[in-house]
Amino acid sequence: MTVEVHVEYDGECHRVGSLHAASRGATVAFEYEASWLTRSGAFAIDPTALPLRTGAQHAPNLFSAVQDCGPDRWGRMLIDCAVRKRLLPDRPAGDLGYVLALDDGSRIGALRFRRPEGPFLAATHGRLPPVVRLPALLRATDAIHREDETAADLRFLLGEGSPLGGARPKSVVVLGDGALGIAKFRKPDDTRDIAAGEVLALRLATAAGVRAAACELVAVGRSNAVVVRRFDRDGVRRVPMVSAATLVGASSRDSGSYQAIAEGIRRFGDDVAADLAELWRRMVFNLLVANCDDHLRNHAFVMVEPGRWRLAPAYDINPVPTAERGAGHQTPLDADGGDWSIDAALALAAAFGLSGPRAKAILREVATVVGRWRELGRRLRLSKATLDQYASAFDNDAAAEVRRLLRR
Ligand SMILES: Nc1ncnc2c1ncn2[C@@H]1O[C@H](COP(=O)(O)OP(=O)(O)OP(=O)(O)O)[C@@H](O)[C@H]1O
Ligand SMILES: [Mg+2]
Repeated sequence: MTVEVHVEYDGECHRVGSLHAASRGATVAFEYEASWLTRSGAFAIDPTALPLRTGAQHAPNLFSAVQDCGPDRWGRMLIDCAVRKRLLPDRPAGDLGYVLALDDGSRIGALRFRRPEGPFLAATHGRLPPVVRLPALLRATDAIHREDETAADLRFLLGEGSPLGGARPKSVVVLGDGALGIAKFRKPDDTRDIAAGEVLALRLATAAGVRAAACELVAVGRSNAVVVRRFDRDGVRRVPMVSAATLVGASSRDSGSYQAIAEGIRRFGDDVAADLAELWRRMVFNLLVANCDDHLRNHAFVMVEPGRWRLAPAYDINPVPTAERGAGHQTPLDADGGDWSIDAALALAAAFGLSGPRAKAILREVATVVGRWRELGRRLRLSKATLDQYASAFDNDAAAEVRRLLRR
């Protein structure tokens, strides 16, 4: 299968190349268009895996930048249900097939795909649900989990709802001012209010000086949903976006590290000093709120100048209570996979361009704000029971370490 790849930048759509996926196996090839390579202001759509050069570039798996705008566990589940219900003619062919099954209009980032002369895939009908349809979207996601969804539920979630990436049930939504957002719903087997935890963490992050995505906690029936404003759109314009996995060229089995992301910032960053400091702040914030699901696709970059990338606002931050925590965080602090401690973070400060005193000042600021998590939770009108469920996420080893360190 071969598709044209286009990218939208500054409101203009450019054909950048062709992507070919083998009919058997996972191998792919991409070739930039000569007209794109010679254009002033051309940029690599995948900074590490697809440098700007002539000729076909081959890879054993779909390029990471293309995976970034495709479905993950949730989207794949919907697509597979739709195939079983014969709403989609065939099971998508390989990873690229799954990417092409997602709605073009709400696709994450600025890449677009089509067959010659055809519409951009998946052909959009331009009807995205307004936030008032959250209850209907939740009902449809519940039906999927109960496995008694109707064809209409699937059409709604796959078409208008557009499943986007990630594992949790979600839908694209149009916010009150017409901007795009993502609504994330509860799953029937959740044992706590995940949306409440995410909104609490994102608001705490903002208060702690982290640039975090704007979000709201919205009651939908008897549960809550998080509605996050999309940062890969500027009005109606698409903004190129890649995950940290793509920026550092990590394979799916490679957990990468914060230090590797820092190196990616040094190579491709637009404001290197600011982003290194921001990343270090996020790293200690994640330790202090026990956000251990901090994998490389939960960090992203948006393109601000051709080929120059900035950390996107922080998103998908979830405080995890002790009982549900595994061995540690998904992303090690450094390449050697040392421990996830404040001490280890401080030892890395220089690699993030921070002096010891500056790093400690950031740490103090972040820890002070996180220490007031209950107060902020009450302001968000979270119940005492919900806050109690999250207590062990905030009263964690890193918090104790900071208290000892700052007392010295
Ligand atoms: N505010 C946003 N603006 C643009 N894109 C976003 C935003 N929030 C999330 N995304 C994109 O959508 C994907 C899925 O969102 P998110 O990570 O919040 O979902 P999730 O299901 O909780 O993920 P996970 O599988 O990590 O648990 C992200 O990986 C990112 O590519
Ligand atoms: Mg995620």
